Amino acid sequence: MALTLPELGFDYDALGDRMSKETFEFHRDKHHQAYINKANELTDSKLSNDNYIPEMLKAKESNQGLFNQLGQHYNHSLFWDSLSPQGGGDNIPGELGEKIKSTFGSFDAFKEKFIAAGGGQFGSGWVWLAMADNGDLEIMATLNADNPLTHGKTPLIVCDVWEHAYYIDYRNARPKFLEAFVDSMANWENAARLYDRGPVKAAA
Ligand SMILES: [Fe+2]
Repeated sequence: MALTLPELGFDYDALGDRMSKETFEFHRDKHHQAYINKANELTDSKLSNDNYIPEMLKAKESNQGLFNQLGQHYNHSLFWDSLSPQGGGDNIPGELGEKIKSTFGSFDAFKEKFIAAGGGQFGSGWVWLAMADNGDLEIMATLNADNPLTHGKTPLIVCDVWEHAYYIDYRNARPKFLEAFVDSMANWENAARLYDRGPVKAAA
């Protein structure tokens, strides 16, 4: 048993200029894989993709070194699921589309806030759309390996704003990358599925 790189539902060149094959090769095969290797090393490969989340939450309180690796595995795994070659735009399926409109006023208002939150995150981190236990939506920015689960929130979609996520394709233009994510890569189908599933009791 060990943690492994999760499958990607499309080829590395499927996003074209939006996110290049070279970015996937570095970001998945080198960066994400390195976090996985380190986590396996620290846990004697005793964790698997199916059971590591409670350990990640425990490590957040008691073992920052391990949390950094497990958090990066969790965050990157959801990031890959947050991308789709057919993604982006305001055609959000199910109740999530309505909920975004009622929460933020409009899809454009959501988009503006999401980009501002990701663009304003100083240093390395993540920007999320997350759900509270009562179903309320919230845009969250987290630092380093942190994620909404450690704050009792259920993540729906995430964009990686570490420089390695966009430097090859967008150079230092992080807001441009975030705009491309929302407009043409965001996997709303996956986010709607997570929304319909309801809040996850993370520590359970
Ligand atoms: Fe990353």
